[in-house]
Amino acid sequence: TAVDLDAILARIRDIPDFPKPGILFKDITPLLADHAALAGTVTGLAAPFRDAGVDRVVGLEARGFIFGAPVALTLGAGFVPARKAGKLPAAVIEQPYDLEYGTATVEVHADAITAGSRVLIVDDVLATGGTGRAAVDLVRKAGGTVVGFSVLMELTALRGRERLSDVEPHALLSV
Ligand code: PRP
Ligand code: MG
Repeated sequence: TAVDLDAILARIRDIPDFPKPGILFKDITPLLADHAALAGTVTGLAAPFRDAGVDRVVGLEARGFIFGAPVALTLGAGFVPARKAGKLPAAVIEQPYDLEYGTATVEVHADAITAGSRVLIVDDVLATGGTGRAAVDLVRKAGGTVVGFSVLMELTALRGRERLSDVEPHALLSV
């Protein structure tokens, strides 16, 4: 059964000037609150990777956590949180990346991804691609194989796909 992309898109709300003037924020909370839209999103994020031998799904803090865990269950895989710096308690592998102003760091537990792990990365939005690029590099640094990068929504004008040409991101919606 095909996923109803129009019903999903209808539950993503545009919020102007959030979190700061000039930014049009894509609010996914109406989608999350609707069972059919939530289930369809999880199904759609997982669908291309059903036969890809995924054993770990990495979800990117924070909104990638929401979709990453149910995608992992759908694929019969485990879930690994990729967190912002300083949040994980055990030994980590880290990957810095550039923000609009300054830098940030994303981390996973070093024992959560091992050589030979087949990893699908999940997030809500692909914008400039900085977050996704860091996640891909992080998984590879940990010894994992990146099987794919699956997102709900790609903001095509920001051309993040160009920074992720080696993984060819899968986006349910392009806006
Ligand atoms: C948002 C979004 C993606 C990222 C996409 O996360 O959830 O993770 O930005 O942008 P990029 O492609 O330009 O890197 P954000 O860092 O705002 O934090 P959150 O998920 O914790 O809300
Ligand atoms: Mg995010």
